[in-house]
Formats: sequence, structure tokens, C-alpha cells
Amino acid sequence: MTPASFYIETYGCQMNKLDGHLVADRLRAMGLAAAPEADQAELILYVTCSVRRHAEERVYSNVGKLQARKRRQPGLVIGILGCMAEKDREEIFRRLPHVDFICGPGQLDRIEELVRGAGAHRAALGAPRINSSMGILPMSPTGVPPVEEEENQGQDAPGTHGRDARATVIDDHLEPFEEGRLTPVGEHPLHAYVRVMRGCDNFCAYCVVPFVRGPQASRPPAAVLAEVRRLVAAGVRHVTLLGQSIGSYQREEAGRVWRLDDLVRAAAREAGLVRLDFVTTHPKDLDSAVSAALAAGPPVAPYLHVPAQSGSDKILQAMNRGYTAEEYRERVARARAAVADLAVASDFIVGFPGETDQDFEQTLELVREMEYSQLFAFKYSERPGTAAAKLKDDVPEDIKKSRLKILLDAHAVVAAARNRRLIGRTLACLVTGAGKKPHLDAVVYPSPLGEGGPSGPGEGLRPITTPSPEDVIQLSSRSPGNQIVFFRGPRRLIGSLVPVRIVRTSALTLFGEIR
Ligand code: SAH
Ligand code: SF4
Ligand code: F3S
Repeated sequence: MTPASFYIETYGCQMNKLDGHLVADRLRAMGLAAAPEADQAELILYVTCSVRRHAEERVYSNVGKLQARKRRQPGLVIGILGCMAEKDREEIFRRLPHVDFICGPGQLDRIEELVRGAGAHRAALGAPRINSSMGILPMSPTGVPPVEEEENQGQDAPGTHGRDARATVIDDHLEPFEEGRLTPVGEHPLHAYVRVMRGCDNFCAYCVVPFVRGPQASRPPAAVLAEVRRLVAAGVRHVTLLGQSIGSYQREEAGRVWRLDDLVRAAAREAGLVRLDFVTTHPKDLDSAVSAALAAGPPVAPYLHVPAQSGSDKILQAMNRGYTAEEYRERVARARAAVADLAVASDFIVGFPGETDQDFEQTLELVREMEYSQLFAFKYSERPGTAAAKLKDDVPEDIKKSRLKILLDAHAVVAAARNRRLIGRTLACLVTGAGKKPHLDAVVYPSPLGEGGPSGPGEGLRPITTPSPEDVIQLSSRSPGNQIVFFRGPRRLIGSLVPVRIVRTSALTLFGEIR
């Protein structure tokens, strides 16, 4: 019997968030209702991440806890989606015998079939890349499915382990699934992610993503633009285009080759869209389509997420990143020179095999120098099947831990200094909702409100009229560089672009007042 209600728990990156919501849309279309808690759902889905071991262990532990409930409630259906579903099909069935089905990211368009068939048989769908593909399997008496090495019933991308990185793959079988999207999903109610690329061909030595998400493929520009249009019509004001290496976007349509800057310019023309940004840029692409896309100007945000990963040439080479620290510095400097007030964000890995104190010092130096607006740092986690797994994971855990802390602390110092320089500046901020930190309001509701239109920069800013006093709350907004800015103002500004003068800052947050 098909379950009546569902609950989805998501781990990992924005790609997964988007996948989880696409699946939710499909389940709603099948007539299932969204349950507010896992406890109340008849179908529980986990959209999993494999990027670090810790993320996988959390899933084993959380799903493991459902075993007793499944015994009491045999009709409960449990499905594993996401990147682990691609990487560890056998291991999941072995360690979690109460899981009904497993579905890799490339087979999500078959979720309906899996949900309807649950209970009758255990099933695993995925591409034949790392493990064998198991196809639909009969339930064995032990509850452990027999592994059929050859069978592959998925409409798989033709990826193979160690493929030619330059191969162009056009596989649009997920397009109808992607186009079935009903709900905007993002970081706040006015924001939505739109996928423009699937997979990755970069094979950074530490990274499992190319294995679990398959070969790099760019979506048709018309499909991306139609999705942006639908989202804006549904009230979205800020769109983030998504790709693991988005600067390599390339797709031919009607005899024309589209690159990232073509796509960004076309999307930016959508009336009603007030902010457009894109992640993630590989440094190798920084000089080409990415700079051209950033130069398009508003609504394209001056925001660049360009992970460096390390400041040491030796480590960058071992990571197969394809640039030196100096080349990275030069490319970011050129982008900064071309785009006013560019906010640059980055990712770093500490404790990669062979990383010495001296290598780590070079990473610290880069972080101090670059003044990143945001920094995402991770302890190296060995991923089976990747090139780096052949190296000895020789940096002890306590050293990884202390390097992580030193790096984050160093960034907090530079971020605080960078933010302090914003005091007195007026930024065009997109108001996203009520603020969650009213206790931190040092600023009294300003009087200039109601004395005419805004005096800040930019076009399309909404004129401010006198609010009723009870309407005034702490509002949360996003600066052009995507930093959170709190200020007091009337609730009806939610959804508008408002000039806000920065009056106070911390390492993470900006506080301002309406100009
Ligand atoms: N495509 C994106 C990143 C995807 S993974 C990009 O290239 O920027 C997000 C981040 O996780 C990476 O930037 C990296 O810093 C980190 N990461 C990836 N694999 C990792 C591993 N094995 N151990 C620790 N961190 C890792
Ligand atoms: Fe992983 Fe590198 Fe691809 Fe990013 S570019 S997803 S780090 S292989
Ligand atoms: Fe994790 Fe997969 Fe994203 S491994 S980071 S959820 S692409």
C-alpha cells in the first residue's frame, strides 16, 4: 500500500536540498501529505551526503535508530536517496536491513515507482560507477538482497570510474523531473536555487563528488530560464544558480553556444528578479566566463564563491587543483579590480595528506590576506576510491582539529576588520523576513523614515512611506555580497530592496538603519 504521508531529512549541499524538494513535489503530486515530524510519517526519506565520513556516519546512526519502530510499524517505508545511495548501496542494505529502497541522484525521476513498489521488494537504483548496480531486487528471506552485478535498470549516465574528463555528456533524462518543480526552495522565502549543471569532471584528489554525481553536464539554457521565470512569478526575488564547477557551463542550443555569462545575462533580464548569483566557481574558470558574468551588474550580485582549498603549492598540486597559490591570488585580484565591492568566499581543507606546519602557515597567510566575506573550512576526510585515498592520511586528528580552529579564528579576525570598514556605507539590501536577533538591536528605529524616497544607491529601490509604529520590527536582509544585515523597519518592506546604512558590525553580522 502506498504511504499516505512523508518526511524528508536532508544532509549535504544545496544540490541535495534541491533534490529533496523536487522529490517532495513529486510525492505531493502522488497524493502524499507532508508530515511535520518524522514520527508522524509513513514514508521517511534521507537525502544523504558522502563528502566526508562524518556525514555518512550520521545517516547510519539516525536511520539505525528506526529499526525498532519499523518492527512495531511494518508499513513504515524508509528510503535512502542522495550521494550515499550512489556510493554505498551494498553497505547500506547490509548495515540498515530495515531500509526499503535506495535511489541515487541520477534516478530520482523513478521515485514514484520505488515508493509504490516498497514493501513488495527491496530496490536499489543507481549508475554503475563505484559499486555494482543492483536494479530491482526480490526481497530475500534474510532481508539482505542478493547482489546482481550486471543488472542495471536505471537510465544511467554513461559515466565510468576514471573517465576522460573532457568527454561531453548530454544526458537530459532528468529534465522532466527537474521541470516538475512546484515550490521555490532556498535559504529564505524569497530565495531559490536553480540547478544549471549536474555532476563534476574535475576529480580533485580528495573529492567523491565526481563519483557520486556523475559526469559534468550542463542543462539546456531554455529550461533554466523557464525555471527562473516560473520562480519569479511565484514570488522569488533572489535566485542562486548551482553547479559544482559553474564557470565551465557550456551548452549548445539552436545553433548557439551558451556560456555562464550568456545564461546569467539572460536570467538577469527577468523582470522582478532583484538578485542573481551563482556557485561554485573553480579558480581555473575565473578569468573567463565568470568575470564576464559578474561584470553584468545588478541584479547580478558582486559575490564570488571561489574555493582555494589550500595556500600551499605542494598541497594544491597533490589535490589536483590545477593552480598555484600565486595564480589564485592573481585571478581573484583581477576579478576584484573588475567588480566593485566584490565579496569573495572560499573553502579550505586542513590536514590533507602530507600537510606540514609550513604548508598550513601558507594557508593561514592566504586567508589573512584575502579578506574573505565567508569561509568554509573542513578537516580532511579520506574518501575511498578517490586518488587521495592512496596517500597516507598522516596528519593526526588532534592536529587537524587545532588547524581548523586556528584557521577559523584567523578568519574571524579579518572578517571583523573587513566588516568594520563597512560602517557608514549604504548597501542595497534585500529584506528577507523578520530578524531573529531583536535582542541585539542597538539602534533605535530611525526618524528619517517617511521623509521621502530613499537616498541610497541603485535603481529600483522602493520608496519608503511612514509606517504605523506597531508595524516596526527587526528585519533581516541580505547585502549585495550576501551578508546578513539586521535593521529595524516596517514589516511591509519584506521582499523589497532597501538602502540600509551600516552602523555596527561583528565578525558575522551587520546591523544598520534605513536611509
Ligand atoms: N564543487 C565545489 C565543492 C563541493 S564539496 C567546489 O569545487 O568548490 C564542498 C567542499 O567540501 C569542498 O570545497 C571542500 O572544501 C570540501 N571537501 C570535499 N571533499 C572533502 C574531503 N574528502 N574532506 C574534507 N573536505 C572535503
Ligand atoms: Fe569536488 Fe573538485 Fe568537483 Fe568541487 S570541483 S565537486 S571539489 S571534484
Ligand atoms: Fe555531499 Fe553530494 Fe553535495 S556528496 S556535498 S551532497 S554533491
